[in-house]
Amino acid sequence: MYDLIIKNGFVVSPSSTVKCDVAVNGRKIAGLGHYDESEGKRVIWAEGKYVLPGVIEAHMHCQAPFQGCLGANSFYEQSVSAAFGGVTMYMDFANMGKGDSPLVQALARADEMKESAIDYSVHGKFVESTPEAIADIEKMADQGIPTFKMFMTYKKEGVMSDDETMLKVFEKAKQVGGLPMVHCESNGIAETNIEKCREKDDMSWVNFAKCKPVICEAEAFARAVYFAQCVGNALLVVHTTNGEALNTARRAHEKGTPLYVETGPHYLTLFDNLYKEENGHLAICSPPLRTPKEAAELWEGLKDGTILLTGSDDCTFDIDEKSMFLEKKPDGTWKQDFTKVVNGISGIEIRLPLLLSEGVSKGRISINKVCELTSTNIAKIYGCYPQKGIIAPDSDADLVLVDMEKEVTLSKDVLHNNISYCLHEGFKVKGYPVMTIAKGKILVEEGEFKGEKGAGEFIRRKIDPQYLERYGLN
Ligand code: URP
Ligand code: ZN
Ligand code: ZN
Repeated sequence: MYDLIIKNGFVVSPSSTVKCDVAVNGRKIAGLGHYDESEGKRVIWAEGKYVLPGVIEAHMHCQAPFQGCLGANSFYEQSVSAAFGGVTMYMDFANMGKGDSPLVQALARADEMKESAIDYSVHGKFVESTPEAIADIEKMADQGIPTFKMFMTYKKEGVMSDDETMLKVFEKAKQVGGLPMVHCESNGIAETNIEKCREKDDMSWVNFAKCKPVICEAEAFARAVYFAQCVGNALLVVHTTNGEALNTARRAHEKGTPLYVETGPHYLTLFDNLYKEENGHLAICSPPLRTPKEAAELWEGLKDGTILLTGSDDCTFDIDEKSMFLEKKPDGTWKQDFTKVVNGISGIEIRLPLLLSEGVSKGRISINKVCELTSTNIAKIYGCYPQKGIIAPDSDADLVLVDMEKEVTLSKDVLHNNISYCLHEGFKVKGYPVMTIAKGKILVEEGEFKGEKGAGEFIRRKIDPQYLERYGLN
């Protein structure tokens, strides 16, 4: 007898879509095949639905103090919103300032995440390379935290890693099976441009994107890749937005450099025209939103395997936080100053729907590719495969049932976060998660959350050395 049988769905993996049943015992997948309904204590009929491994969100910033703001969701609330988007595991970053211990901060973050209803993990963060900080890298890897983010910008915020820090973290990460994650934007290019805007007294939302153009990201991207080639370590670049960076990645892949590229659904579906709007500050994120041409290049990068993973880079800043340092002019419009707006936008709940709709329903990518981009590749690259990221015997029974015919008009009212605006307001999607199951338990069913606060567990991660030594995931 099985605890649960999901019957007659199309079970999706990176390489196949097979109509079969999934049997679950306790928290694990017991088998795939054909089971009689009498063998299940509960049977879920999935006729016509697709069954994917639970979505993994490896890029979000929840309750993360940044530029004077914090975000509107608690971790529990974040996990509820995530579950509605098919997410069954998420990862956040340690909060770091100069003088902090990366290890202590990472463990503190894991502690804060205990209230989550879904499984979780933490990435370390480096803002300096003191001997003490570097020594923490091995300790973090030993504790199941082998990934570390660094920013190449945000110098004023005190979190930028200088070149030496990057090289030293790369070196140590290589020794202990770790993977550095880099936010690529040239602080020098951005700040020089910002200074010019200030001289002209034009700090408009539109100028935000102009101060951080493609070349600002592409220069830092190339520098990070050269550093990785110099050290000979693996590297992951987060939230990549443009074709120029992808061409650098392609050249690196040709040389065998284990360079992994992430993009976010907002860069595929939202554009810099939003900065022309009065409330354009709500769309301020770094790197900035780009043009439809760059988005088309990203879709190409997804198709040809240059980009192997997606992350929402979710930040839960509501209108009050996005606007809190701004002033209004006598006519009631904003006195625009993009340097007074916290960077970051929300998206954890809509990453899967956007990829299903703009990707699969529009014929750009297959549902198997979506499975890779939202789950399998993330589990592999971040080191929790095959516990996560695949529907296979002995893997955690983390599943999302998708109805490719379901149409939803995205809106703040259909999402489950504490944010009173949605940048995709009115955006129609076709293809939506209809049930989320985590470790064999129903999390979301018929629009209702059935999970439990604190049910999430810390997932220790270890990256398969082959992924750190050469490019590719097979
Ligand atoms: O604008 C963004 N992306 N804010 C969050 C912090 C980061 O850079 O990832
Ligand atoms: Zn970033
Ligand atoms: Zn981020």
